[in-house]
This record gives sequence, C-alpha cells and structure tokens, in this order.
Amino acid sequence: MPYELIELDREGRVATLRLNRPKALNALNAEMMGEVAAALSDLERDDGIGCVILTGNEKAFAAGADIKEMVGDDYLSIYKTDRFEQNHCSVERFRKPIIAAVSGYALGGGCEIAMMCDFIIASNTAKFGQPEINLGVIPGIGGTQRLLRAVGKAKAMDLCLTGRIMDASEAEHSGLVARVVPVDDLMDTVREAAAKIAGHSQPATMILKEVIETGAETSLREGIRFERRMFQSLFTTEDQKEGMNAFIEKRKPHFKHR
Ligand code: CAA
Repeated sequence: MPYELIELDREGRVATLRLNRPKALNALNAEMMGEVAAALSDLERDDGIGCVILTGNEKAFAAGADIKEMVGDDYLSIYKTDRFEQNHCSVERFRKPIIAAVSGYALGGGCEIAMMCDFIIASNTAKFGQPEINLGVIPGIGGTQRLLRAVGKAKAMDLCLTGRIMDASEAEHSGLVARVVPVDDLMDTVREAAAKIAGHSQPATMILKEVIETGAETSLREGIRFERRMFQSLFTTEDQKEGMNAFIEKRKPHFKHR
C-alpha cells in the first residue's frame, strides 16, 4: 500500500517507519497515524520482520497530536470517536520489538508515542515534554501514566504541570531514554540495535517483550511466575535447541524463528 505521510523502508529483518509531515513538525494527525497503524499491522504479520524502528526527522520526532485537527472537537465528538485509540495506540499494541529513534522535538503525543515503544534511543538534540497544560488540557495518550512510571512522580509532576521541555541528557539520567548518542550517529546506532534484536529468535523476543511489559503492571511474585512459565514455554521451540547447541558447538546460531 502506498503511503503519503510515512515512509517505510526494509533492510534485512528490520523495518524503519519514518513519520513524514516535516512542515507540521510531524504533528500526529488521523491520516498519518492511520498509515502507521496499517503499516504496523502488515509488519506484525510479516515473518520476515523481527524489529521495527519508529522515527521522525532531525528537527522533530513529533511535536504532538495535531492541534489544528482537535481544536473544533467537543466532548461528545472526541468521546464517541475515541480519537487516538484506534490508530495512535496501534504502537502500544504492536507485539514485536519496536524502538523509537528520537531527534529534535518529542512533545505531547510525540513523547507519548515514543514512550509506547519498547525503548527510546535519542540523539543529543532530542527534546521531550508534555506541554498540553499550555493548551488548557492534559496529556491524553498515556503521557501522565507512562511518564510517572518512567521517571517517577516528582519529575512527571514537574514536566506535566509546568509544561517545560527536558533535554536529552536529563531524559537519559531520569530513565526515560535508554541511550543518547550524537545526532549524526543516531540512525546507525538504532539500526545496529534493531538488527541485533531482529537476528534473535523471534518467539523469544516477542515473549521477552510481553514478560517485561507484564512485569511493569503486576506484583514481583506474579511477574516472576509468568517469566518462569514463559521461559519454560520456549523449550517447545526449534530455536531453543539451535541456540543452545550452537553455544556448545562453538558456532553462531541459525535461528528459524520457530
Ligand atoms: N499540531 C499542529 N501543528 C503543529 C504542531 C501540533 N502539535 N506543532 C507544530 N505545528 C505546526 C505549526 O503550527 C507550524 O505550522 P505553520 O507553518 O502552518 O504555522 C509548523 O508546525 C512549524 O511550527 P512552529 O512554527 O511553531 O515551529 P517552531 O520551531 O517555532 O516551534 C515547537 C516548535 C516549540 C515544537 C512549536 O511548534 C510547538 O510548541 N508545537 C506544539 C507543541 C504542543 O503543544 N504539543 C502538544 C500537542 S497536544 C497533544 O499532544 C495532546 C495529547 O496528548 C493527546
């Protein structure tokens, strides 16, 4: 399917999905996020893809939900259409590993979409924030909740209540971002991480993601119980035999992703 507002590239088992509304700083309108949802749905079904990169451009990952699209909404229209749930939240429902590669602005919905990814690798120019309070509203695609869990109450309150922007270094120190790299190295670094993930056994990476996500929402005891069951379940795969035999035979594993 041809896309207008995103670009989709594939290299080996890695797909890169680039938000592409540069004139609007990649503001997340319904059309663009509909394309993201459609692309993710295809990529989830595609056995040739093991990891996805979600990115923008050097100036903006995304400067938020599209304010011009929302300004005319009233409560009933935004409630009945449940704007954001179907398309924007396709990122949180995606079951394979997905990395956000962030340069420039990741504000409002942009920060929220980045946080839906499994982890964020940022360039030194990245700027994160939840400035919705400046518009007379609050974050509405999970920003308060994911930020709280990522950086703790003090910083989440500070960022959401003041609407201030946090730079890449503060984002890394507060745990929002996994790594910060120079802007020119961003895509190479993320592609290298994605290729490594995509080369691992796909059932194992998908289950690993599910186990960590579950752990974020449950007790330690339940999380460990689920991890143990999922660990045991991987002994049904050919890849478990291949991975362990390859270690013993001192060779690289050739995973078949089954
Ligand atoms: N929605 C719609 N259009 C946007 C936008 C957004 N979130 N962010 C930027 N744009 C548009 C601007 O309107 C402008 O368009 P025109 O050229 O047609 O005027 C274009 O992108 C370039 O923007 P600026 O001229 O403002 O660029 P700048 O470099 O001077 O400033 C910025 C950059 C500080 C990021 C500024 O654009 C800005 O503050 N953007 C809005 C950030 C924001 O409030 N995000 C939260 C949105 S609400 C949300 O996301 C709700 C939710 O949680 C569900």
